[in-house]
Amino acid sequence: MEVDWATLTAEAVEASRHAYVPYSRFPVGVAGLVDDGRVVSGCNVENAAYGVTLCAECGMVSDLVRTGGGRLVAVSCVNALGEALMPCGRCRQLLWEHGGPQCRVLTPQGVCTMSQVLPQAFGSADLQHVAEAEGSADAAGQ
Ligand code: THU
Repeated sequence: MEVDWATLTAEAVEASRHAYVPYSRFPVGVAGLVDDGRVVSGCNVENAAYGVTLCAECGMVSDLVRTGGGRLVAVSCVNALGEALMPCGRCRQLLWEHGGPQCRVLTPQGVCTMSQVLPQAFGSADLQHVAEAEGSADAAGQ
C-alpha cells in the first residue's frame, strides 16, 4: 500500500498537541495507516503514578481496536519538534501485535520494517506453537 508519510506525520503532530504530559513535558504523537485506509492516532497520557503512564502508541492501538481493528501498515511517531521518534521497546511489541513484521515505521534513520526494529520478536505464533505441541501430545495420550 502506498504510504503518504508527510500526511501521516502531520496526523501524528496533530495528535501530539493533545498529549497530557504534566510530569515529563515531553509530548508524543503517533499516527498509523490501517490496511483499510483508515488513519488512527494517539498521544501520551501521563499519571501521578509515573509507571502507569500510557505511551502515545497505547492510545493509537486503542483507537485502532475501538474503530474496527485491522492491520497497521505504516506508523509515524513524533516528538514535540515534529521529528521521528523511535517507539520504546514495549510499544514496539504493541505495534508487532497489530502490524506484524512487514508494518513500516518511520524512524530517525528512515523507513524500517517492524522486523528490523524488533528482530526475533515474541508473538502469537510462539503461543500457538506450544499449544499445538501440547495438543498433539494430549492426542497421543502423553
Ligand atoms: N513516550 C511515548 O509516548 N512513546 C514512546 O515510544 C516513548 C515514550 C512517552 C512516555 C512519557 O510520557 C514521555 O514519552 C517521556 O518518556
